[in-house]
Amino acid sequence: MERKGRVEGKVALVTGVAKTDSIGFATASVLAREGAMLALVDISEKVHECAELLRAEGATVSSHTADLIQMAQVEAAVAEILTCYGRIDVLVNNAGMVIFGQEEDFTAFQDLSEASWDFGIAINLKTQFNVTRCVVPGMIERGYGRIVNVSSVTGPVVANPEEAAYCAAKAGVLGMTRGLALDVAKHGVTVNAVGPGWIATGSQAEGEDVGGLNTPLGRSARPEEVATVIGFLASDDASYMTGQLVVVDGGNTIQEYKGPSELYY
Ligand SMILES: NC(=O)c1ccc[n+]([C@@H]2O[C@H](COP(=O)([O-])OP(=O)(O)OC[C@H]3O[C@@H](n4cnc5c(N)ncnc54)[C@H](O)[C@@H]3O)[C@@H](O)[C@H]2O)c1
Repeated sequence: MERKGRVEGKVALVTGVAKTDSIGFATASVLAREGAMLALVDISEKVHECAELLRAEGATVSSHTADLIQMAQVEAAVAEILTCYGRIDVLVNNAGMVIFGQEEDFTAFQDLSEASWDFGIAINLKTQFNVTRCVVPGMIERGYGRIVNVSSVTGPVVANPEEAAYCAAKAGVLGMTRGLALDVAKHGVTVNAVGPGWIATGSQAEGEDVGGLNTPLGRSARPEEVATVIGFLASDDASYMTGQLVVVDGGNTIQEYKGPSELYY
């Protein structure tokens, strides 16, 4: 029997793909393996190199640059994608946290400037609004869509110090996911969020790696372990799920005990 991929023949837009050791690249790889044609968007020109690597593996891929905080640039990128493929069936809103090549801003709330707050909300929440706002009318028109928003456990479930804007934005992503899910439910469009915990991406810091070692599963996740969950939510296997947050954190947020595990279990 011929095996079809979970997203066979679908056109999938994935944002935030500029590094091979990232959640975005792993997601693009999983969706390509499952039969999707890809459109990748990032603010960094490196998106074109990532597309080339996936093409070398046999995937159909277009790549586009845009600052997703700027609505006019999002409209232009989506127009390019529609010229390539004529439609977008799957949207993975993954871009956020940091711009390629820049450092994340860690500042205690009492020292946070208005500009830093605005930027934290813009890069993590407005980007997802902008892209979704441009893509969702076409999905409604065709009566089909799968939207997966990359949130985090940080914000919707727990918090870290010096990241109030990130926490607020990622909690906002969950609120937007739920609100949008209701607005589009009758049009064949589902909207879900994933909440990654400690993930061993290229940008993981040493302290975060130790955080991963103290999860119940005893390690950080590989980016592919988030990507496969995104791939499921992007497929028809998840046809009766909408408005949900799926936490992918090795059980970290269900542990009550936060001390060194050798002193307890
Ligand atoms: N790495 C983790 O441990 C972790 C945990 C929880 C959630 N997340 C979330 O997963 C997603 C991917 O994270 P990652 O670790 O793979 O990081 P990453 O730095 O590889 O990915 C983020 C990408 O988004 C792009 N980007 C940022 N702002 C943009 C903008 N305005 N316009 C266009 N592109 C923009 C960057 O250039 C970068 O390529 C992020 O939304 C992040 O918040 C990551």
